[in-house]
Amino acid sequence: MSQKTLRIGEIEFPFWAGAAPLAGFSHRAYRDWMRQWGAGFVVSEMVSVEGLYRDQKKTWMLLDVFEEPLPWIQLFGKSEYAKWYTVARKVISRLGVRLIDVNFGCPVKKVVKTGAGSALLVSPRGMADIVRALKDAGAIATAKVRLGVETPLWEAFVPALEEAGVDAITVHGRYAVQMYAGVADWEKIKDIRQCYQGVLIGNGDITRPELAIQRKEESGVDGVMIGRAALGMPYIFRQIRDYVETGTYQKPSFEDIKEMLLEYASVYLQVNKTSTLVPIRGILLSMIHGIPHARHLRQTLSLVKTYEDLSLLLKEGGKG
Ligand SMILES: Cc1cc2nc3c(=O)[nH]c(=O)nc-3n(C[C@H](O)[C@H](O)[C@H](O)COP(=O)(O)O)c2cc1C
Repeated sequence: MSQKTLRIGEIEFPFWAGAAPLAGFSHRAYRDWMRQWGAGFVVSEMVSVEGLYRDQKKTWMLLDVFEEPLPWIQLFGKSEYAKWYTVARKVISRLGVRLIDVNFGCPVKKVVKTGAGSALLVSPRGMADIVRALKDAGAIATAKVRLGVETPLWEAFVPALEEAGVDAITVHGRYAVQMYAGVADWEKIKDIRQCYQGVLIGNGDITRPELAIQRKEESGVDGVMIGRAALGMPYIFRQIRDYVETGTYQKPSFEDIKEMLLEYASVYLQVNKTSTLVPIRGILLSMIHGIPHARHLRQTLSLVKTYEDLSLLLKEGGKG
């Protein structure tokens, strides 16, 4: 494996594997947490260009990047050059953040019907206008795309993005209509590599360190983004690094995982200023996925409500 770092514009990330944006999860504490686990980069969750343009306080508060190392924010909105330009200027001057990713992949109806997210994949010119607006405003502009809406559209939009000066493209190897069903098509990501010489990041269904390395080598991408698997196993980034460097990696012990559960729960409660763990039961369960003899723990975890419940449960019943 040749290059360890990932360079986008003049930003150099320490490692080529990082955490994908996950709306509802990728708040600041999660991003810091992912970095602690070895993620080379972490993208913020998507923030509305319209809300920033209108100076909505709540929207600006989502850009919680104060003193964040190498921040990479993601914006979404329809293709309006002037709005994107104005917002990018504000983001750069108010927050000092230059690395801006555009969400061209979100398949959710609420977003698509406003002409944003994956709705833009049918309009290479509209996509290019957004990138041009960001570049003209002085940003480092990246694009996160899917392969198309229902059929391949990348043959049209990748050259358009490139011509507009995009600094990197992340490809999630699915079509918008698939949402998250089926499997990510890494053959298509490899095809995109053949026609796009810029920085390319592959994404979709990476669940093991071996797979991250295999996908990178076989497709020729410069980096990989990991989304859902990183929620349940944030240590995957450290494992990938270890595997690259030493050819082997450690599996976390049951004790490590219990500690991780408590740590994530506390991060979640603190950021969301709440005392209920109900919304993250699913994530907590995915963190103990694959642990043998944890049936009882799984059952009781799915009933957990508070940090105290969790702490007690892990102390008493968390012996497997
Ligand atoms: C709950 C959830 C929220 C997501 N939010 C975003 C988002 O805000 N921006 C984005 O570009 N992609 C988003 N995605 C897509 C992921 O970034 C990623 O492309 C996708 O999950 C495939 O990667 P994976 O198989 O490693 O999870 C989201 C996916 C999920 C499951």
